[in-house]
Amino acid sequence: MPAAAPVQVDLAQAEPVRDVHSFANVEQLQVRHLDLFLEVDFAARRLSGTVDLRVERRDAAATQLVLDTRDVVIRQAWIVDSPMQLRETSFELGAVDPILGQPLRVTVPAGAVGSVFTVRVSYQTRPEASGLQWLTPAQTMGKTDPFLFSQSQAIHGRSWIPMQDTPQLRVTYTAQLRVPPGLRAVMSANNDPAPRADGVYQFDMPQPIPSYLIAIAVGRLDWRELGPRTAIYAEPPLIDAAAREFADTEKMLTACEGLFGPYRWQRYDLLVLPPSFPYGGMENPRLTFVTPTIIAGDRSLVALIAHELAHSWSGNLVTNATWQDFWLNEGFTVFLERRIVGALYGERRRSMEDVLGLQSLRREIATLEPRNQILQIDLRGRDPDDATTDIAYEKGRFFLGWLESRFGATAIDGLLRGWFDAYAFQTVTTAQFRTYLEQHLLPTRPGAVTSAELDEWLTAPGLPGFAVLPQSDAFAKVDAARADWLAGRRTPAELPTAEWTTFEWLHFLDNMPASLTGARMAELDDAFHITEAGNAEIVHVWLKLAIRHDYAPAMPRLEEYLVGIGRRKLIRPLYEELMKTPAGRARAGQIYQRARPGYHPIAVATLDAIVRPPAKAAVAR
Ligand code: BES
Ligand code: ZN
Repeated sequence: MPAAAPVQVDLAQAEPVRDVHSFANVEQLQVRHLDLFLEVDFAARRLSGTVDLRVERRDAAATQLVLDTRDVVIRQAWIVDSPMQLRETSFELGAVDPILGQPLRVTVPAGAVGSVFTVRVSYQTRPEASGLQWLTPAQTMGKTDPFLFSQSQAIHGRSWIPMQDTPQLRVTYTAQLRVPPGLRAVMSANNDPAPRADGVYQFDMPQPIPSYLIAIAVGRLDWRELGPRTAIYAEPPLIDAAAREFADTEKMLTACEGLFGPYRWQRYDLLVLPPSFPYGGMENPRLTFVTPTIIAGDRSLVALIAHELAHSWSGNLVTNATWQDFWLNEGFTVFLERRIVGALYGERRRSMEDVLGLQSLRREIATLEPRNQILQIDLRGRDPDDATTDIAYEKGRFFLGWLESRFGATAIDGLLRGWFDAYAFQTVTTAQFRTYLEQHLLPTRPGAVTSAELDEWLTAPGLPGFAVLPQSDAFAKVDAARADWLAGRRTPAELPTAEWTTFEWLHFLDNMPASLTGARMAELDDAFHITEAGNAEIVHVWLKLAIRHDYAPAMPRLEEYLVGIGRRKLIRPLYEELMKTPAGRARAGQIYQRARPGYHPIAVATLDAIVRPPAKAAVAR
């Protein structure tokens, strides 16, 4: 294998990068380790306890440790001289920034560069903490117990831990959690499959991770082994279906290791969350969080597992230095994800997933301002949660695919493997990746790509005209079938749907012309019962059509879907579609009023801006 030789990276030499989404004074003081002691109180919807922050000094004169917080109640702060000796110290909370939260400034003594000290902060969270969702028993599958889960990425970790909340730095952590007896606590750390009768759980995360990967969940959870290094946690009613759906996880792990180097996190477990989880998946190390909406019954949506697993290399091992370099996490990960899908399920499926990605990218580009179509995006003054577009994911993936087309798959796999080794447990910027390409890839085939082409990928909007784009024969047949049906040449029964997988269906439905009507949708529904289908992605596309073409029989299902699911990617486009007409707006308002109490704060923030419930508008005025 012509793998690029691992380079030694000296971070002290690297240019300082400014994270515009953190108040932390990391050039002066750097937190290296956290010890959490927290009590989980479901009645009060509150975490309360202490965090000890072990700090390494970069600047001898600095006398303030600046941490990130959002809506956290700070009770007291100390300097910890020894486990038994605490000195109370003063602190202040700065002004509230609507995006960043509040800086917490803790007074610390000056000291020698390189010296280490520990600060203890006693605090409690507020019920509305943006990074936590507290669910009532009714909002869970099992209906018997409450549930709590965190979502720290991008900058919500600060709403439940006062810390330097920036991907620029890494910390190890331990935690001791006290939870109500009978419930199980899990974290992005070493999880012990044996539940604790006393409700006291201990965790240790020995690998250094960025703050956005600290994660917690508490609920009635069963455990089921999937393979030697993989297992699943899920609510009891879901555990069987989840274990069947995700049976390939260990194989994916082995495939990814074969391509990109050793798995460095010991275990890869999955946690299936209640349906209000606002994302499809979240790559919390050792314990990926996933939405139950990917349990389709036929493993057709497990590319998401491949994706979150791939983050164990791109993202968790080699981390974007700031949210402006987010494509280094996500574009790389989509590239790895598709390599895993190809290895496990074949090229046909891989190319279909690639084409669906391209379609989604094209549609998104059509709606984005040019400045938001650039890989390295300018997020100054903006919420990083709003930057999660297909640019980072799919344009990033097509950039790597284009390099693959010019240098060959073996060279790119070798390049990535070398990159992950060189920057393991470090953070990276777009500029560093470009330099790495120039040093390790371009010389292997002089003239294969030009500097102007690289510039265009990295700094220009849109998709370069010379991009190498995927094609799918399977979809060409679906296009022919759709055209025949639309022209009345074939009835629904005459379409070759028996051979279709989820991807053919998605392509078939998602490329209907504007001239489609509710009456024609009824024809399809009579033949295929799509309104009642169990695949959340297919139903999503169908419901979008139903809103657009006024297909009334699907409206009860639309309401049930929007009230039952909180995954932002599946619900947001439906609300946006509804908001396009007066009747739709009325329906959106009425459904949202019912659904909103069940949504996660992150979804609420997005949807409030789209639907604007009357109560909120009144307050704002
Ligand atoms: N890390 C992301 C989720 C995320 C991104 C959370 C930005 C907060 C801010 C995760 O890996 C992801 O990309 N999830 C996707 C699924 C994937 C298959 C594209 C999702 O949730 O839809
Ligand atoms: Zn991702």
